[in-house]
Amino acid sequence: MTVDSTSSGTLHCGDNLAWMRTLPDGGCDLIYADPPFLTGRVQGRAQRPETQFDDRWSGGLDEYLAFLTPRLEQMRRLLSDRGSLYVHLDWRTAHHMRLVLDGLFGANAFLNEIIWSYRSGGRSGSWFARKHDTILLYARQPGCHIFHQQRGGTYRTDGLRVDPKGRPYKNTTHGRLYFHPDGPAVTDVWEIPILSTVARERRGSPSQKPEALLERIIAASSDPGSTVGDFFCGSGTTPAVAARLGRRFLACDSNCAMVEITRRRLAELGVEVGEESERVGS
Ligand SMILES: C[S@@+](CC[C@H](N)C(=O)[O-])C[C@H]1O[C@@H](n2cnc3c(N)ncnc32)[C@H](O)[C@@H]1O
Repeated sequence: MTVDSTSSGTLHCGDNLAWMRTLPDGGCDLIYADPPFLTGRVQGRAQRPETQFDDRWSGGLDEYLAFLTPRLEQMRRLLSDRGSLYVHLDWRTAHHMRLVLDGLFGANAFLNEIIWSYRSGGRSGSWFARKHDTILLYARQPGCHIFHQQRGGTYRTDGLRVDPKGRPYKNTTHGRLYFHPDGPAVTDVWEIPILSTVARERRGSPSQKPEALLERIIAASSDPGSTVGDFFCGSGTTPAVAARLGRRFLACDSNCAMVEITRRRLAELGVEVGEESERVGS
């Protein structure tokens, strides 16, 4: 299946494994995967059952890995030679998935274990509060992959001077040490606020990710005109940000209510959605 050149992308409702198998090799420069986390619960509020998703696995970890592994295999196939895969997980499975991904991509294709650190309510009295997610980053062909350095935040160093051209520097014994005016290069620890329950971005997905997180990923690992894939798209954070940044998208969710939410989100941005494949289930 191809996306025609006039559209910004394609949305699909149905199981992602079946859909990915219909897509051609190498069409995506970037894939972001935000699957269920093996929480053992139905995610989402009972008052909005249409947006819930089931994250219970009677077969435990083995069943979860058997679900995710063939999907990650497909994602690897869909990546271009310049492509990268970001897999968003937490403490429950990140260590297992690292081994699975090493097996699929080769350990040399591992680029980063990104820590997305956030503050939210809820603390335990028995251990340190678990307030980060883990995002594993792999390249299809390490060395050929797209990577644009991201910058932001403030320098650790106090008392910087600014030269007549407005460039920050400090005096050292070797002369002036200049600092990049856009701030330090982003590391693998990302402090990005989690969406509050009343955030304007909120669309109803129980585990909706902030646009700022996807902005960083898409800006770093794709080019304008690249196709960005998200096959667990939920409320459509990835396609919305991709379209806003001039990328095309392939997006899918097995829950048709989420696909409708994504469609409306894209429509609000004036984004045209290409031919939608046949709907399967809800
Ligand atoms: C963690 S949420 C994604 C949230 C999304 N990143 C956002 O910002 O809204 C996971 C999504 O995966 C979807 N999902 C679960 N199994 C799926 C499957 N086999 N195929 C496609 N989507 C699936 C769920 O319906 C749910 O919306």
